[in-house]
Amino acid sequence: MHANMFDPALYAKVRQPVLAAETLPAWCYTSREFYEREVERVFRRVWNFVGRADEIPQPGDFMTIDLFGESLLIQRDDDGVVHAFVNICRHRGTRLLDGCGNSRLTRCPYHGWTYAADGSLIGTPGMEQTVGFNRKDYNLLSVRLETWAGYMFVNFDTNAGSLATYLGELPDKLASYNLDDMVCVRRKEYDLSCNWKIYIENAMEEYHTPVVHKKSIGKQTTVREVGRGEWAALFMKAERTIAVLPEDIGDAFPQIPTLAGNPAHGTHFIVIYPGTFFALTQDCMWWLEQRPTAPDRTKIVIGSCFPRSTVARPDFEQKVMKYYRRWDKALPEDNYISERQQLGISSSFSRPGRFSFQEPAVHDIANWVLDRVLDLPTGRSAT
Ligand code: FES
Ligand SMILES: [Fe+2]
Repeated sequence: MHANMFDPALYAKVRQPVLAAETLPAWCYTSREFYEREVERVFRRVWNFVGRADEIPQPGDFMTIDLFGESLLIQRDDDGVVHAFVNICRHRGTRLLDGCGNSRLTRCPYHGWTYAADGSLIGTPGMEQTVGFNRKDYNLLSVRLETWAGYMFVNFDTNAGSLATYLGELPDKLASYNLDDMVCVRRKEYDLSCNWKIYIENAMEEYHTPVVHKKSIGKQTTVREVGRGEWAALFMKAERTIAVLPEDIGDAFPQIPTLAGNPAHGTHFIVIYPGTFFALTQDCMWWLEQRPTAPDRTKIVIGSCFPRSTVARPDFEQKVMKYYRRWDKALPEDNYISERQQLGISSSFSRPGRFSFQEPAVHDIANWVLDRVLDLPTGRSAT
């Protein structure tokens, strides 16, 4: 191995146009050093998707999220405002909450300091004699949280631009899906033995679909769509929803009434860099979040969202089973092949490969990451 794996010269062939390019070297998927650089220069500086605001509808509702070694507490306060807090007590640092639930008053399990749902410290038994101690200096620490159409994103970088700037033209492009009106009805998690890039690359290419999904969703054919913002999009023409298996199409829900333009005639597959995947089809959307926990481990979260009017239908609970059946069949196929790719790429004999014309977004993802993790050519300093 080269002395500096962040030397741009090592990646010259990945930088070529897709059909002339090579794939990323194997160490980008296996090395601890490369992974730690990604956490520091990518994940801790960008907007990371954490879930839907409608998953925590009531005052005090919360969910805890592990992001690259940090535990965050996402909570709705008594005024309805959603916050992201660092999930640690300000006394001596104990982890506060686990999982999800409701906690209008959160009492630290160690010495009983108590916090309101807006993060303010309101109870400090036994601190009366402490010199110059002022409760208001010890509220929970906040992390930036911004929402778009009900999707919540957090950013650890206090200097980063707004979520709206990060997303650029994406909200306009997806306006006719009326995403504000969606409700997340199911969230499911998988713990996989693969690098996070392996999984998002798979989600953003159609080349594997006739092979990996032969017995479920089958072949998909897409075209690329471009626009300003930190995302890449593929569009697949199809007059009906692809969120049920072909044999269940008779049980599909009606389409979203506001759809216009391309959204009315197919499905969008979108990566919001680095690791959030959205699939939007005529009657629903699902998201896939890849949360890296180690170079070769990723937690995959899939969330299923439908319009409120669909969720209110008397036949919703019965018909949605057809959708769950599709996700529970096709996703494990991608899980299996992703872990299998990780096994292979970990070989000391692994060498870069080449791209098909059906994998432009895989090349985009590789280059987006390289743009952020590589050292600058000698003579210029990193910002
Ligand atoms: S660590 Fe939380 S009250 Fe002491
Ligand atoms: Fe797939």
